[in-house]
Amino acid sequence: MNRLISLIALAPLLAVSSFAVAAGNAEIAKKLAEPCAACHGADGNPTDPQYPRLTGQYRDYLQEAMHQYKTGKRKNAIMAGFMQPLTEQNIADLAAHFANLPGSKLGDLSHPAKPSGK
Ligand code: HEC
Repeated sequence: MNRLISLIALAPLLAVSSFAVAAGNAEIAKKLAEPCAACHGADGNPTDPQYPRLTGQYRDYLQEAMHQYKTGKRKNAIMAGFMQPLTEQNIADLAAHFANLPGSKLGDLSHPAKPSGK
């Protein structure tokens, strides 16, 4: 009986921790994203148009772009310098972080608005 109760008590904790792994570590990603703000703006929304917006982009697009800077397939001296010290897990976390930030000017591209039916 005691064992059953402790299992029931643990169940929500287990659910939360497996979600955290799947979604990447938000706290670590926030820390990793701090230097990016200098160019890509606070929360990935740059005010200077020479820097691409990160907020609201597809997660897999961001991850692939960062992976390519790291490996040299996509060449940009600035971004290569930022990606080189990161692990692939860091890159995955950063991609999830920027893709999930609210307030994107692009809107939510993964769920386009339904046509109005006119
Ligand atoms: C010193 C300025 C600067 C900083 C700091 C910086 N970036 Fe960039 N980033 C750029 C520039 C410039 C580009 C466009 C490069 C190109 O033409 O490929 C870019 C491109 C990107 C792209 C590709 C976007 C796209 O739409 O193709 C991603 C993703 C990205 N940066 C992520 C980051 C992340 C994450 C950080 C922080 C770890 C960061 N950047 C820090 C200047 C910067």
